[in-house]
Amino acid sequence: MKTLIAYFTMGGRTKKTAEAIASALTNYNVSYFPVQLTGKFIEKLKILDKFEKNDFSAIEPELNTLDVASYDLIIFGMPTYGSKPPKVFDEIVARMGNLSGKRAVVFTTARFTGGKARDYMKAKVEEAGVQVIDKTKFRRVFWLGVKNAIKFGKQINERQE
Ligand SMILES: Cc1cc2nc3c(=O)[nH]c(=O)nc-3n(C[C@H](O)[C@H](O)[C@H](O)COP(=O)(O)O)c2cc1C
Repeated sequence: MKTLIAYFTMGGRTKKTAEAIASALTNYNVSYFPVQLTGKFIEKLKILDKFEKNDFSAIEPELNTLDVASYDLIIFGMPTYGSKPPKVFDEIVARMGNLSGKRAVVFTTARFTGGKARDYMKAKVEEAGVQVIDKTKFRRVFWLGVKNAIKFGKQINERQE
């Protein structure tokens, strides 16, 4: 099953989690659509702020390459910012166009919460016509290991034996 993991990361926790999930998806053919902010923290926050104002010019080249036509399953991974995923999530979903007939998995990473953001993501992709087959949150204040992510990946993998 062709699978796309679309994630956003500012600090690397969501990337690490996405890659840990992918490492368990041995029955799937996995590609990534990563949106990763790099550089100084303050610069990243400025870009995030632009996202909030619906200015995605900083990542326009990446967004333009987004083509999900050939994927059966899309895994969305986002950090939690103020109980929601960053606005880039909504933009990624909008740029994917009609997703009817596809399946999705949504996950969030968070320090304190993450549940609301995860449910927001689920509702949003369902609006685009997707069937959400699994969802979760990975929450740790400090060190976010990969154990739970690998376990979650195995759970998804078993659906496709
Ligand atoms: C601007 C900002 C807002 C955040 N808001 C929340 C929040 O509301 N709830 C929460 O649990 N964690 C919050 N966090 C923590 C991140 O969700 C968490 O560290 C996440 O795993 C970061 O993912 P990343 O390393 O992939 O960027 C916030 C972090 C930042 C930078």
